[in-house]
Amino acid sequence: MLSKLKVQFFSRLDVKLAVFYTVALLLISLILSSFFYYRLQHNFLKQIDRILKDEVTELTLEIEEDHDIVKGCKEFFEDISYRESYPVFFRVMTHDGVSLWESENFSTILSDGIKEKKHFTVTVDQRKKLRYRIYETRFTFNDQGPFVVQMATKTKRADKILENSLQNIFSAIPVVFLLSICCGMYIAQKPRKILQNITAVTRRITSQNLAERLPLPPGQDEIRDLTLTINFMLDNIESSFDEIKQFTADVSHELRNPLSAVKGEIEVAVSRKRDAADYRETLHNCLERIDNLIKMVNDLFLISRFDAKKYDLKLSRINLAGLLREMYIFFLPIAREKHIHFVIKRCDTLFASVDRHKILQLLSNLMDNAVKFTPDNESITLSLIEHRHEAELRVSDSGIGIPEGDLKNIFKRFYQVDPSRSGDDRGAGLGLHICKRIVEVHGGSISAVRNKTKGVTFTVRLPLK
Ligand SMILES: Nc1ncnc2c1ncn2[C@@H]1O[C@H](COP(=O)(O)OP(=O)(O)OP(=O)(O)O)[C@@H](O)[C@H]1O
Ligand SMILES: [Mg+2]
Repeated sequence: MLSKLKVQFFSRLDVKLAVFYTVALLLISLILSSFFYYRLQHNFLKQIDRILKDEVTELTLEIEEDHDIVKGCKEFFEDISYRESYPVFFRVMTHDGVSLWESENFSTILSDGIKEKKHFTVTVDQRKKLRYRIYETRFTFNDQGPFVVQMATKTKRADKILENSLQNIFSAIPVVFLLSICCGMYIAQKPRKILQNITAVTRRITSQNLAERLPLPPGQDEIRDLTLTINFMLDNIESSFDEIKQFTADVSHELRNPLSAVKGEIEVAVSRKRDAADYRETLHNCLERIDNLIKMVNDLFLISRFDAKKYDLKLSRINLAGLLREMYIFFLPIAREKHIHFVIKRCDTLFASVDRHKILQLLSNLMDNAVKFTPDNESITLSLIEHRHEAELRVSDSGIGIPEGDLKNIFKRFYQVDPSRSGDDRGAGLGLHICKRIVEVHGGSISAVRNKTKGVTFTVRLPLK
């Protein structure tokens, strides 16, 4: 239980961020402290070396003044004996190490003779941390020499300051640690609360409750962007859900009507004894309705394949004029039956890379509508021309037309201006939607406009590749 709580605590975002801040801050503090400590130590030694160098200059001047090394050393020793802050000790030797003069106890500081180093530090008492800084140099006097002088002083003062600095740094580290943990936790609290809120609201949102949205946090940061993205995603999911619900309702409605009609016809037929001609007529009607049902199911299947992007295009270079004439010939007898003036106004030879079967279906759907919604003795005109590197195909009729307000909806699935307008030839409202999907997968466009006088013109544009 305790270990579970521990795991939960350390997996919290604010805790993780606080730990991260703290480790980073500690590392930075350590690096900076080490750097400043090293610089301080370096500067102290530099300062001490300068003092020692000055003392050596004074000593050599004294020797020159007295024209005697021992006398000069003695006088210099008397001069420095009252020094408190940086007491100096020195030794003068010949170049082969024979001591000419040394201040008392110098040999306890440095027992061996010449070191051949300019500056160096010796530790005399490890336990008491007694350290000396020594400056060694050579000088000539009265054309004699070279003589070696070693000037030493205790580094106690500087060492004490350095030690205090080190202690201060080490005592500041736990404070920095605590402060950074607290600040880190405090700063990370806000994003944590916002994320908790996002999680809580997102958990509440289910398929039954898709209208709920995340409240937008103030500011313009990444959390606001994330919230906006989640809300946008929810908008899309909600509209997809609505579309699916609507689609299911439409499909069941469209299937129920013809099935009820078939059932009704059969019930009437079997309600009493009838002659063979009556039964044949009933069967004929049922067959027609079942054909319509099969067409609708096929259309729905095709739409579902478009939705799943599994439309399996079989592209080949085809003369569009040939396809238009083929469909014209197919619809001509039906148009003639209604005494419709059905003509091809212009038909240019245009080759395009298309799926033959799908383009035939597109033309069939458009011509089927034109014939269906054009009353007897009216006209239907077809044309195919090239316009701005595109094939422009028009199906224009002088039929019952489409109200301006419905034009934007006619390409939606199941949309019908008024189902009663089709009379007996009632479809499902899928034809134009399929046309749009076919044109889109070929990289083209489709539009419908009302004619100035009457009827409507459908224009399909397909790229000529
Ligand atoms: N040439 C046209 N003239 C007048 N109205 C049209 C024409 N073409 C389409 N419409 C209107 O647009 C609606 C949608 O057409 P669409 O082809 O999608 O469906 P449908 O013909 O009713 O049924 P389906 O094509 O599935 O058998 C039609 O119901 C009709 O109201
Ligand atoms: Mg149609």
